[in-house]
Amino acid sequence: MKGPFPTDKFRKIQTPFYFYNVELLEKTLQSAVAEAAKHNYLIHYAVKANVNPRVLSMVRESGLGADCVSGGEIQAVLNAGFPAEKIVFAGVGKADWEINLGLDNDIFCFNVESIPELEVINELAGRKGKVAPVALRINPEVDAHTHHHITTGIKENKFGINPEQLDKVLDTLERLASVKLIGLHFHIGSQLTDKGPFQTLCGKVDAFQQQLSDRNIRVEHINFGGGWGIDYHRPDEHPVPDFKEYFETFHLHFRARPGQKVHFEPGRSIVGQCGSLISKALYVKEGSYKKFVVLDAGFTELIRPALYDAYHKIENLSSDEPEETYDVVGPVCESSDCFGKQRNLNKTRRGDLIAIRSAGAYGEIMASQYNCRQLPKAYFSDTL
Ligand code: LLP
Repeated sequence: MKGPFPTDKFRKIQTPFYFYNVELLEKTLQSAVAEAAKHNYLIHYAVKANVNPRVLSMVRESGLGADCVSGGEIQAVLNAGFPAEKIVFAGVGKADWEINLGLDNDIFCFNVESIPELEVINELAGRKGKVAPVALRINPEVDAHTHHHITTGIKENKFGINPEQLDKVLDTLERLASVKLIGLHFHIGSQLTDKGPFQTLCGKVDAFQQQLSDRNIRVEHINFGGGWGIDYHRPDEHPVPDFKEYFETFHLHFRARPGQKVHFEPGRSIVGQCGSLISKALYVKEGSYKKFVVLDAGFTELIRPALYDAYHKIENLSSDEPEETYDVVGPVCESSDCFGKQRNLNKTRRGDLIAIRSAGAYGEIMASQYNCRQLPKAYFSDTL
């Protein structure tokens, strides 16, 4: 058996499909919760990584809150039973109906990204006779050194409030009666495997706090966002990300002010390793100078390699024959529909089961129906 897979059971299921290892998700959640608790840190799971209802209900049962970026996500977590007081709502482009949904449900906090947004939240809350709790998402100008599509905290990015505008935002807040400043929010990027940028972020946050103190403003909440990476190359060696190292970095480099609560929004590190995309080899095809394995899964089921040049480990679950080198591609009519170039797989034949690993985060949720393909089903290790 390769990886943690019940291959015999897979043979009876229509491919492609997502497979979630429930025991691993449970272990990952336990580790995240235990390591955060050591420092009294609070976690809001970044729902954007995976909203599969079973996954959501396991996350909720572990006691985490939810970080949402749309009305749809807020609705999904409310349906999954997350308490509204554990929901934070971020995003540069919140539509009025989405803000109203958050207000009607009395969510914990709106992470605000601009002055115009602050004014709209103030107006909509005022109409309802409510005061909206807000945190300012500041762009801290820390380079996460990750893929440029998933870097969010540098000057050129659309996210967050420009630090030079912070005083102006604080002036604006003074004249708005229907919003209340409760926190500061940051998120510098995703799939960070180096702690360095988080250490830099801690220093910057301290400076922003000083700027607030100088105006006699104290906030109750600091939210460092998400971003902790996973080991895409060696998922079996590192199935559970090192949450101890992650949280200790903040513990060592950031001193919360008395009474202040510190929050995090991990997505990928919670669900990434527990999911795989399982597909079948349709054809093994000789190109002019290389061989292709053509799968029945494509970028419609996992877009990360096409969109970010992301590496995912690929395994042939049906073969133990000596390895050969292939480009592993999908059936979609685009050259970017390629899961990996020049990969070594056990000799592959038509019908072999192929696992694409570490697909639990930003896999199923980013699936599309391009080429009129059907959205695949998900299966779970304990109910297969
Ligand atoms: N908080 C905020 C404000 C975010 O924008 C994100 C991710 C997270 C938390 C969660 O980050 P994580 O812990 O998952 O790194 N589709 C891309 C990732 C996009 C991430 C967007 N924001 C991928 O497949 O790599």
